[in-house]
Amino acid sequence: MKFLITGANRGLGLQLTREALKRGYHIFATVRKDQGESLLELKNKYSDMLSILTVDVQKEEEVQAVAKHLEDSGQHLDVMINNAAVLNEREKSIEELDMEQSLIALDINVLGPMRIVKHFLPLLNKGPSASIFHISSEAASFTNAYAGDYPYGISKAALNMFSEKLKKYLEGDGVQVLAIHPGWMKTDMGGENAPYDPKETAVMIIDLAERKKEVVSRFTFVNRDGSSMDI
Ligand SMILES: NC(=O)c1ccc[n+]([C@@H]2O[C@H](COP(=O)([O-])OP(=O)(O)OC[C@H]3O[C@@H](n4cnc5c(N)ncnc54)[C@H](OP(=O)(O)O)[C@@H]3O)[C@@H](O)[C@H]2O)c1
Repeated sequence: MKFLITGANRGLGLQLTREALKRGYHIFATVRKDQGESLLELKNKYSDMLSILTVDVQKEEEVQAVAKHLEDSGQHLDVMINNAAVLNEREKSIEELDMEQSLIALDINVLGPMRIVKHFLPLLNKGPSASIFHISSEAASFTNAYAGDYPYGISKAALNMFSEKLKKYLEGDGVQVLAIHPGWMKTDMGGENAPYDPKETAVMIIDLAERKKEVVSRFTFVNRDGSSMDI
């Protein structure tokens, strides 16, 4: 299978890339700017199996150019993972919120995945191996809504809606569309106190891509083990 993974230079994106490479898949790993040492090490180890591409998900022309480049070179995709995101304006009250920063979070976390799907969908080999995964968050849940992290929670709730709409759009095409809560992980975003290692989340998400487990959920919003999340 061939994977596209955004935000692959660190955190969960890097671990997803590492795990999928380990299983013998070809990865188109996108980075906003710097590929970073860890991704470079993977490139040295896996050579042609890893293609590193520069994509800032806020820049549609960049997304489009990279999609066209792959299309022109006869490439296809089986799995798209929209992983790149930001968590800004942490713990600010609504009165303190910076609207420019809020707009940036919505642009990266919602419009970013929409830009990726818009331009890369024509490359997706539809059918039983095809998946589109959006890395969501429990912060999107209405049931467990909390005050704070306004742009982040709102952006992930909107991302879940995008997933639902995409699922309807692709109905009958065999594409597995999921919005996955990856768990609270030790990454730059999750911090040191997080209970989970992103490596174990990566294993579970690549298992979902391999359809090792049948996901039975009314909505696309699921936990990293494929079980339903509270909407
Ligand atoms: N960590 C957690 O506990 C947790 C919990 C729930 C959900 N999640 C979700 O899991 C996913 C991965 O999170 P993480 O913890 O690995 O985060 P992270 O360590 O902060 O990494 C975020 C990644 O997103 C990339 N990115 C940000 N803005 C971008 C842009 N405009 N264009 C392209 N790439 C961009 C970053 O690239 P740069 O290096 O260039 O900034 C980086 O590679 C996110 O969707 C996050 O919301 C995480």
